Amino acid sequence: MLLAVPARAQQAAGEATTPEAAAVKICSGCHGMQLVTDTPRDWDAWHDTVQKMIDRGARGTPEEFDLVMDFLFQNVTPVDVNHADRGLPGVVFVPNYFRPQFQKHRGAVCGGVELLVTDREAFRSYRTGVELLAAIHRLWPDGFAWRAAPYEFVADIPAIDLLTGGPECRQAIESGAGLEDWLATWGEDERQFRAERREVLLYPEADE
Ligand code: HEC
Repeated sequence: MLLAVPARAQQAAGEATTPEAAAVKICSGCHGMQLVTDTPRDWDAWHDTVQKMIDRGARGTPEEFDLVMDFLFQNVTPVDVNHADRGLPGVVFVPNYFRPQFQKHRGAVCGGVELLVTDREAFRSYRTGVELLAAIHRLWPDGFAWRAAPYEFVADIPAIDLLTGGPECRQAIESGAGLEDWLATWGEDERQFRAERREVLLYPEADE
């Protein structure tokens, strides 16, 4: 027989269980919380700062420090992903972090965003993908690189150009000009494609 013990019952007395409680408990011991909330920084910088505070004597369980990172990432980062309004329909971005068990970042805590599709009819997966690329390039230009290895046996055209159908997407992102001009060309392409495929559809499209 298995005996299920609720996780909470195993927690040490007084252990903080919410991001805010953990941050207040661990980070307001030596200075006020205002020092923490006044200085937004990104994931890596918070990671370094918290390590510095541990060196100075900040103490808590690993779970509590995970919660502290949650708090910092959700409340004190310069990038508020949901309010960096690109008008992307049907999706919200939720801060998240995890420790991969395999491949190149194995064992390291990685921060990122989780995409939650809230309306599958409205969601534009491809547009969301290229917007993400543009945002990552803008936020972390130094760590950004396009895939340079041959893609699908094609070596003389960058993989991203093959995937997006031409150099427009890559050039818009690299130049910092933004995606607007390129996006503006999609409507006509989409209209043509819809017309072209109409005769092979088994069921009519809802909006036709
Ligand atoms: C054991 C004492 C102690 C605890 C606990 C502590 N700090 Fe600090 N913290 C300090 C000291 C001392 C300074 C000022 C020295 C400095 O600025 O280098 C400081 C400064 C800071 C600063 C401003 C300086 C900087 O590096 O940007 C930030 C931000 C900060 N702490 C964040 C935190 C966070 C987040 C936590 C919780 C994980 C925390 N601190 C917990 C001792 C502590």
